[in-house]
Amino acid sequence: MKRILSSRQVRNTVERLAARIRADYGDKRPVLVGVLKGAFVFLADLIREVNMPLEVDFLTVSSYGPGQASSGNVQFVHDITTDIGGRHVLLVEDIVDSGLTLDKLRRRLIRRSPASLRVCALLARRSLLAGDPDAVDYLGRSVPDGFVVGYGIDCGEDYRYLPDIWVLEDG
Ligand code: IMP
Ligand code: MG
Repeated sequence: MKRILSSRQVRNTVERLAARIRADYGDKRPVLVGVLKGAFVFLADLIREVNMPLEVDFLTVSSYGPGQASSGNVQFVHDITTDIGGRHVLLVEDIVDSGLTLDKLRRRLIRRSPASLRVCALLARRSLLAGDPDAVDYLGRSVPDGFVVGYGIDCGEDYRYLPDIWVLEDG
């Protein structure tokens, strides 16, 4: 395994994102929607850095099976309970890879007529951003190809507990 971000670098990234979110949302009381399971650590740190009135909800999707290969089939497992009609919604993702999950979630939530819908992701794949630089509104860091784990992000349900962020090496 190769470490790509130390916990200190992660913290700096979260602080930078939180400052932008605070500046943009001011007193709008946004609803931050964490995409489970991967985003739970990031969201927990993010809301405390944002440190202004907001609401939190979660939805659960599953696109990966036990290993590293995406099934390409995004399964919607659990929905939010908040009525987001007229609300400012910020989707919070751990890592955006192909963008497929994000696309599906966006389309699903936009039907409920939120006042606004934006995306905050701790990480996004460089290859995706090359083709779609605006895929994520609030982006922490871009990452090269390679399976990422740690800071809530798993591989087959392992490694979520790691404070740093790592890339699994082949083999
Ligand atoms: P998508 O390809 O953008 O749809 O990514 C699907 C989901 O897979 C994301 O919500 C992530 O939680 C997860 N994912 C994508 N890339 C990685 C990775 O490198 N490690 C662990 N999870 C990942
Ligand atoms: Mg995710």
